[in-house]
Amino acid sequence: MKISFAELSAPKAGTIVVGVGEDRALTPIAAALDKEAGGALVRAMASSRFAGKKGQLLAVLAPANLTVGGIVLAGLGKLADVDALTLQALGGSLVAHLNGAGESEATVRLGALEGKLSPAEAAANLAFGARLRTYRFDKYRTRMKAEQKPTLKKLAVQSDAATAAKKVFADLDRLADGIFFTRDLVSEPGNILYPESLADQAMTLAELGVEVEALDEKKMKKLGMGALLGVGQGSVRPPRLVVMAWLGADDKKAAPIAFVGKGITFDTGGISLKPGAGMEEMKWDMGGSGTVIGLMKALAGRKAKVNVIGVVALAENMPDGNAIRPGDILTSMSGQTIEVNNTDAEGRLVLADALWYTQDRFKPRLMVNLATLTGAILVALGSEYAGLFSNNDELAERLTAAGRAVGEHLWRMPLNDAFDRAIDSDVADMKNISGDRNAGSSIGGVFLQRFVNGVPWAHLDIAGMAWSKKDAPTVPKGATGYGVRLLERFVADHYED
Ligand code: BES
Ligand code: MN
Ligand code: ZN
Repeated sequence: MKISFAELSAPKAGTIVVGVGEDRALTPIAAALDKEAGGALVRAMASSRFAGKKGQLLAVLAPANLTVGGIVLAGLGKLADVDALTLQALGGSLVAHLNGAGESEATVRLGALEGKLSPAEAAANLAFGARLRTYRFDKYRTRMKAEQKPTLKKLAVQSDAATAAKKVFADLDRLADGIFFTRDLVSEPGNILYPESLADQAMTLAELGVEVEALDEKKMKKLGMGALLGVGQGSVRPPRLVVMAWLGADDKKAAPIAFVGKGITFDTGGISLKPGAGMEEMKWDMGGSGTVIGLMKALAGRKAKVNVIGVVALAENMPDGNAIRPGDILTSMSGQTIEVNNTDAEGRLVLADALWYTQDRFKPRLMVNLATLTGAILVALGSEYAGLFSNNDELAERLTAAGRAVGEHLWRMPLNDAFDRAIDSDVADMKNISGDRNAGSSIGGVFLQRFVNGVPWAHLDIAGMAWSKKDAPTVPKGATGYGVRLLERFVADHYED
């Protein structure tokens, strides 16, 4: 779908979209169109449930005196409250609606809004939401019928600030590139995406000026990464640790901020095998690393003025004659030993070495890791919030605020000494699970905390967020790309020159 920006003018063809506020309050542009259409818009509203509420859409047949194909009224809610998220959601819902109706061309006519947004920001955010909803993962569908394919080819967004809108959109477009890259990676099945091929995907960021380096087993062995290597040893696909560096700050030597991702390209559970039903979902157990890679793409794409390190720990967790066994003891890069009482608690093992390595080599100002770490976070927070665990209140607050601003919500969960004591082991420095199922997500959190060496750190448990079973306005079902928007905002708000 091609997105363009133009000044306000009457379109000759396609569908026209105009905004309506709460209680059917026509925006000036909608009022002018209604007049031209002999009151057809007001009559159509009167005979429907459409009330101009946020998210409501009403399709109206164009009256005979207009050349356009159709008119869509878009509910904006209280006009004074229209914000970026409202317009993103509208853009996304419109794309779904117009594709559902088989339209090929549409023009959104956005006048000046009463809210806090400039006309340029309004137009750009609508376009951003529209693009996010166009995402599809169709590459393996070779027999798609015409009616299964999207029809919308052109979306024009009119405002009285087209040039400025295009400029604002340019950065959002790079952000969408990053989100789409994440969605692509997370969608790929385990036979296509495994540690080496995922590392190859990360390497493509070199085109944008990201320095990318992949550590193989030999290098990891030398560094003593026994925890990460232990998880990977049951697979014929060797593990990798990929380091990405985007040095965009004026001072290339300034301490970076670091993002670390869990990248289990398939999680069978290992010898502590998962039940068969639903196991196919574990192809997206690399969601944390997918987000880190997409985030690096978004930041490098818009040449963010910040030094950022991305580290992803890649392994496939398989049951095998060579796999780690329950009870095995691994020595991590930190020197701390880990009794592996459940091979299905593998994410924390690969992150233990990735976190230690990141702080040891890069001395970052802070680290944020992302991981589809626990089923328990789904029990607690469903698909509304990712779990946030942190040893630093300021960092936790900044992340929460960024999430609220972009509509990717976080809810802080506790780490405390009692949880930490629950993973003390009788035979090693710690064990990778506690004695019971209680507080499973916090147990994962305190385990990771033992590998951050006091650096300001946050762990985002995104097990409930990386994949969605239902369409949302800007997130079609499937891989969501959760976290890219949130962390891009977090960086933009606090860490750029
Ligand atoms: N990848 C899973 C967590 C998961 C579950 C992600 C459901 C997405 C959806 C993780 O490796 C895992 O298996 N965790 C175990 C931990 C337990 C053994 C302590 C879990 O949550 O059951
Ligand atoms: Mn697991
Ligand atoms: Zn896992």
